[in-house]
Amino acid sequence: MTFKITFGSSLPAQSFDTVMIPVTEGNKTGTFARQYDKDHGGAVSAFLAQSRNFKGGKGQIRLLGATSKKGGYDTVILAGTGKVAALTADDCETLGGKIFQALKNAGAVQAVIALDDIKGLKKIKAHEAAAHIAAGIKLASYRFLKYRTKKADKDEPDILLKKILILCAGATDARAYHNDLDATVQGVFLARDLVNEPPNALYPDSFAALIKKELAPLGVAVDVMDRAKMEKIGFHAHIAVGKGSERQPCVVVMRWNGTPDGKAAKGKDKGKRADKSGNAPVALVGKGITFDTGGINIKPSAGMEEMKMDMGGAAAVVGAMKAIALRKAKANVTGIVGLAENMPSHVAYRPSDIIDSLSGQTIEVLNTDAEGRLVLADCLTYIQQTEKPCAIVDLATLTGAMLVALGHEYCGTFVNNDALWKKIEKAGADGLEKIWRMPLDEAYKKEMVSQIADVRSLGNGRFAGACTAAGFLAHFVDDKTPWAHMDIAGTAWIKSDRPTCPKYATGFGVRTLDRLIAQYES
Ligand code: BES
Ligand code: MN
Ligand code: ZN
Repeated sequence: MTFKITFGSSLPAQSFDTVMIPVTEGNKTGTFARQYDKDHGGAVSAFLAQSRNFKGGKGQIRLLGATSKKGGYDTVILAGTGKVAALTADDCETLGGKIFQALKNAGAVQAVIALDDIKGLKKIKAHEAAAHIAAGIKLASYRFLKYRTKKADKDEPDILLKKILILCAGATDARAYHNDLDATVQGVFLARDLVNEPPNALYPDSFAALIKKELAPLGVAVDVMDRAKMEKIGFHAHIAVGKGSERQPCVVVMRWNGTPDGKAAKGKDKGKRADKSGNAPVALVGKGITFDTGGINIKPSAGMEEMKMDMGGAAAVVGAMKAIALRKAKANVTGIVGLAENMPSHVAYRPSDIIDSLSGQTIEVLNTDAEGRLVLADCLTYIQQTEKPCAIVDLATLTGAMLVALGHEYCGTFVNNDALWKKIEKAGADGLEKIWRMPLDEAYKKEMVSQIADVRSLGNGRFAGACTAAGFLAHFVDDKTPWAHMDIAGTAWIKSDRPTCPKYATGFGVRTLDRLIAQYES
C-alpha cells in the first residue's frame, strides 16, 4: 500500500475528502474543528452534543458525514483520545492504527488529520505525538499480499488512500522525528515480510540473496559464507543442523560502519572497527531456521506450519540493520544470521550424536528439535572471534517454554550484565516493545554440562526450558562480554490482529535493537 504522510502547520488550498478530528475526554475539540464545524453547518458539534456512547474516550472512533456550505462532502472521523495528559507514544500508535482502519472503511483518498491544538500533553511532546500517530497508521497498513492473485471477496472494499496531511504544532520537528521513526517502520516491514514468506521461497540461499539486495544499496557490507567456507572455518554445530536438508546452510555477516572517521579501538581491540568513543561494534546475532520440522525428533503435525517463522530472530537483525542504515546511525554495528533448514532425512543429524562446534567444545545432541541453540553457538563464537564486540544481543525464536511463560505479550530477555540490561530496558520502552528480564543463572549453565561431551543440548527435565536454553548459550559467550539473549518465540508471531499489526509476523525486535543502537551513537 503506498500512501504518503506529510506534516504541516496550516491547511494548504488542496482538496481532501476525509477529516480526522481528535476529541478529548468530555467531547472537547480544537480550533480547526470549531472552524470546520462552522463551515459545515454544525455537523460535528450537533453530533457531540447528542452523542450517547461516544465521549471522546481513548480509542473510540465514530464516522460522520459533513456537507460544506460550499457544497463539498467529507467523511469526518472522530477519534477519542481520552485524558490528554495520560497519552503515551504507545497510545498514539494505537490511535494511529485505529485511524487507519477508519480511513480504510471510509474509503478515504486524501485525508487531513487535525492535531492542530491538542493541548495538555504531559508524557510526550506534540510533535512526537504526531509522528507516533503517523507511525501507527503506517504499521497498521502493513499487508502481505504478494501471493494473492485475486481478492478474497469480490465485494471487499478497495483501500484508496493516497495522501494524509497531519496538521500539528511543530510540523518541522514532527517531520524530522518521523523520519527516524519511519526508518524503523521500514525495518519492521522488512522483518515482517521475511517472516511471512513461505519456506519454499525463503530458504538459506534465497534469504542470503535477499539480504544482499536489501542492505547492500544502503551501504551495509554484506558477506555471505557458504557451506564450504563454513566448513573451513569450523561451523560444525551449525552445519550439523542443516545436514538433513537439500537446502545448504549459510551464514550472512552484515557490517554497518556508522563512524568511518572514528579512531581505532584501544588495547586488545586495537585494529578492530571502532566508533568515536573507541569502542568495538555492537553485535546483533539472529537465529535463522527457515523451517523447523524438529528433524529426526520430528514435531507433531498440528501447528508445524507456524515453524516457517523460526527465522524471526534473523529477520529482526536484518530489519534492524535496514533501519540503522536508513537513518545513518552514527555507530558501528555488525549483524550475523545463521541460516539453515531443520529437516529429517537419512543424512540428518541424530539425537545422541556428539558434534563439534566452532568454540572447540563438543556438544551432546539430545534432541534434534533443540537446533536453534546449536546455530547460535557457532555464530556467537564467530562474532566474538572476529569482531571483539563491545556488546552482543542475540534474538531467537528459541523455545516453546518462553511462550508458556510469557505468551505473545512480553519477550523474555537474559542478560549477563546489569548495565546492558538497563540499556535494553530503555530500548524496549523507547521502541514500544515489551521486555521482561529472565534469570541467567549459573545453575542453568551447570545443568547443561554433559557426562560424555563438554555440553549437552537439553536440560534435565521439562522445566525452565527457556532458562536452560540460555544456560546452554552461556557456554559460548565470554563472561566479560556484555551479552543479552532475547527469546522471541512468543512475540515474533501473533495469531490475532492488533491495532498496529495484522496477524502473523510482527517484526518484533527491530525497534528495540534500533533504540539500543541509538544509545551507542556518538
Ligand atoms: N523453534 C522452536 C521453538 C518455538 C516453539 C518457537 C514454538 C516458536 C513457537 C525450537 O527450535 C524448538 O523446537 N524448541 C524445543 C526445544 C526442546 C526440544 C528442548 C521446544 O521448545 O520444544
Ligand atoms: Mn526446534
Ligand atoms: Zn527452532
